[in-house]
Amino acid sequence: MNHLLSIEDLDREAIERIIAQAARFAEVSDREIKKVPTLRGRMVLNLFYEASTRTRSSFELAAKRLSADVVNFAASGSSVEKGESLKDTVLTLSAHKPDAIVLRTPWAGAAALVSQWCGAAIVNAGDGKHEHPTQALLDVYTLKDRLGSIEGASVWIVGDVAHSRVARSNIIAFQRMGARVTVAGPPTLIPRGIETLGCEVRFTLDELDSADVVYALRMQRERMGDTQVPSLREYSALYQINARRLSPRQLLMHPGPVNRGVELSGEVIDSPQAVITAQVEAGVVVRMAVLYELLAGRRGPSSAPGQREPSTVAADEPRQLA
Ligand code: CP
Repeated sequence: MNHLLSIEDLDREAIERIIAQAARFAEVSDREIKKVPTLRGRMVLNLFYEASTRTRSSFELAAKRLSADVVNFAASGSSVEKGESLKDTVLTLSAHKPDAIVLRTPWAGAAALVSQWCGAAIVNAGDGKHEHPTQALLDVYTLKDRLGSIEGASVWIVGDVAHSRVARSNIIAFQRMGARVTVAGPPTLIPRGIETLGCEVRFTLDELDSADVVYALRMQRERMGDTQVPSLREYSALYQINARRLSPRQLLMHPGPVNRGVELSGEVIDSPQAVITAQVEAGVVVRMAVLYELLAGRRGPSSAPGQREPSTVAADEPRQLA
């Protein structure tokens, strides 16, 4: 594996290999000294153009626990604010010879573009509404840890599917691991044609009781217009996961951050059925396993900044990319 751009890059065997490696790293996280020398002398660059709490902190911790050097770059406060493009930023920071670049941007396809601009291994940490493959991997890890096997489990992904990169990656990953996936939400927040990914679609929660796992999504108000949901109160009345809708035998997941009182009621967030904190914990060991998979045994980046042929940027890509 040279990059992790999409969960589609991983077949079931590759997902199982990463999950098994993550389980081995979980043992390291339980030690008093939570560090192994596996990636000593390697460098991981966290390049974040969007806000993040969980992904950024867990990639930093993952790299440090593997003894890699870490550089954290946030677009806010950088020369991006003076107009520097994504491409020039990547080429500039590539002068420091990162072995891996962990990239989050609001632009679908940005991670794939960056993989053509430098010699580092690229990890997609969220590209717009497109994909969030390491979230899918940590969710598979969490479910496997709780259920033993995901094979045959019924997983309902509920809420703002239209704006969710997590939904897309998780539909693919859960199905690859043998689960049956249903997406549910208001028609305005379910993308047309989503069933081509193999999932079922529901516009009500009437059959939610059939789920083994309820995976609620954040209402991404920053990405939606007024026409998609008339009011959050109306959304909550019909789709909020609360004690009335969640049965005691069901597991509750959410990628975070949660809009408490909107897609989830406070009582279910704090209930024993919620594995939201376990998901965050899994993030570190799963990201250790991803960095290990990409970098252990791989030679350092060979191409200097700008050495590679620049890729063609699609005409409709945001100008700031190139
Ligand atoms: N789930 C997730 O990606 O959270 P952050 O935005 O806090 O990284």
